[in-house]
Amino acid sequence: MRKGQNLILIGFMGSGKTTVGVKLSYRLQVPVEDTDKLIERREGRSINEIFADDGEEYFRQLEMELLSELAGKNGSRIYSVGGGTPVRVENRTLLKRLGRVVYLRVSPETVYERLKNDSTRPLLQCQDPLGRIRQLMEERREAYEACADIIIDTDETDMDGILKKITEETEK
Ligand code: S3P
Repeated sequence: MRKGQNLILIGFMGSGKTTVGVKLSYRLQVPVEDTDKLIERREGRSINEIFADDGEEYFRQLEMELLSELAGKNGSRIYSVGGGTPVRVENRTLLKRLGRVVYLRVSPETVYERLKNDSTRPLLQCQDPLGRIRQLMEERREAYEACADIIIDTDETDMDGILKKITEETEK
């Protein structure tokens, strides 16, 4: 990771953005921030509560405002962002302005296995979570790829390999 440059982790829910962010932060000795957690802290309520009380569009607005605030700052940080952040075209521009974008690509089956007992993702609380994962992933595929500088297929790489690849690629 180059000095003065931020690194942004994007990818579907359950792709490992938060875990990879924390591990990279230790390895590279740079601070990590998670935009979902920043939003929860500011709002004083969980993502589930924000969706239930004010709806997805309100959450998307908060997400975009936070991103434009962060894109105005400089520094060496790692950011993990919510799985839906790159869907808005304005956010894709903001993400690229914020720093090097690393896309953690993952299969729907892996996401399903990781999140089948999770209740913190409002978009997956439905009758057919695997179907919803497949559908959302397909809808978002182009958006993720369009703003990625580096793509990592996480199903085929262990954690150490993921960290190594990000470290090497972001030195270039
Ligand atoms: C969302 C992903 C979540 C969170 C919200 C919406 C999405 O973040 O922002 O539940 O639209 O994919 P994670 O990707 O960290 O789970």
